[in-house]
Amino acid sequence: MRRRDFVQASLAVAAHTALQAPVAHASPPPRIAYGSAVRGDALVDDFAYRTALVDHCQLVVPEGGLKWEAVRPSEDRFDFYEGDKLLAFADQNGLKMRGHTLIWYAAMPEWTSSIRGGKAAEKALSKHVRTVVGKYKGRIPSWDVINEAIAEDPRGSDYLRPNLWLENMGKGYIETAFRRAQEADPKVQLVINEYDIECVGEQFTNRRNALLRVVRDLRDRDAPIHAVGFQGHLKGQYEIDKEGVSSFVAELKAMDVDVLVTELDVIDNLLPADEKQRDEVIAGRASDLLQAILDANRPTAILTWGITDRYTWVPMWFTRDDGSPNRPLPLDRDYKAKPLMDVIGRFVSRA
Ligand code: XIL
Repeated sequence: MRRRDFVQASLAVAAHTALQAPVAHASPPPRIAYGSAVRGDALVDDFAYRTALVDHCQLVVPEGGLKWEAVRPSEDRFDFYEGDKLLAFADQNGLKMRGHTLIWYAAMPEWTSSIRGGKAAEKALSKHVRTVVGKYKGRIPSWDVINEAIAEDPRGSDYLRPNLWLENMGKGYIETAFRRAQEADPKVQLVINEYDIECVGEQFTNRRNALLRVVRDLRDRDAPIHAVGFQGHLKGQYEIDKEGVSSFVAELKAMDVDVLVTELDVIDNLLPADEKQRDEVIAGRASDLLQAILDANRPTAILTWGITDRYTWVPMWFTRDDGSPNRPLPLDRDYKAKPLMDVIGRFVSRA
């Protein structure tokens, strides 16, 4: 048979088979998973907290339990107490767990400051990524491999944030981390996670562009990267750059890179004192971000950085001048749902 005839015959068989196959009903895509960061101490101490997590979440992520500070008491020790504890809770309650985070400039134990030179740094980075991802192989389906790699205010060639790894290995540390993570668990969604890429303003635009540059560079080098995480620590006083976010997500999609929201909360130190008004602004900002993302691609998950105002990192940096407590999260201090929870509910069910 000539090649052309063969191809035509195969096509005919394929068409015939397709006609016989049952018609696939277009079913709505599954809900987007909602999740929260979890504090290990509150998980043990607070029954209402555990209940809220189980009632609302399909996903959890440790707020600090898998950072170097927690996992690496010394150069040769790994401590998985916190990670294991949260994973056990997730398993018992039918939740999935994300990993946060492998490589970040902060939360580094003191002993790491003695790591010097390209070779030593690469060895330390590889050992960490391999061991931590390997430990949870098949059990943590998504990892923040790189956290906050972009310079605070990127300019020209200074677009990466200085850290131990950049200083010793150059920008290749990012690619190395992704490659080691993939080797340790080839099925994991590998994420680069970043903050201050959501709002209107030159600095936010520059940060988005710098992040695109990093992702493009990884793609050009065939390095494994699957998604960009919008941390989503929204500064309530700024508008969301809806067009900027949508076109950023569209550019990522064109490179076959997904997006997710990893640490949503709305920083309210400069918002009105009136709680009802404040909660409305907070819900509106979150809604704007989620809509802008969804306009270009469906996020693979939406997580908030905590679930209740009782346990939030926001007052560490952003207390209010009027002394009233921050309200950045979906549930208030008494676990009552606020408008932000309604917004999340709307997005996870309709998208
Ligand atoms: C924060 C935690 O919420 C705090 O409890 C901790 O003390 C410091 O780190 N971006 C991140 C998170 O990626 O890891 C940070 O978490 C908040 C900002």
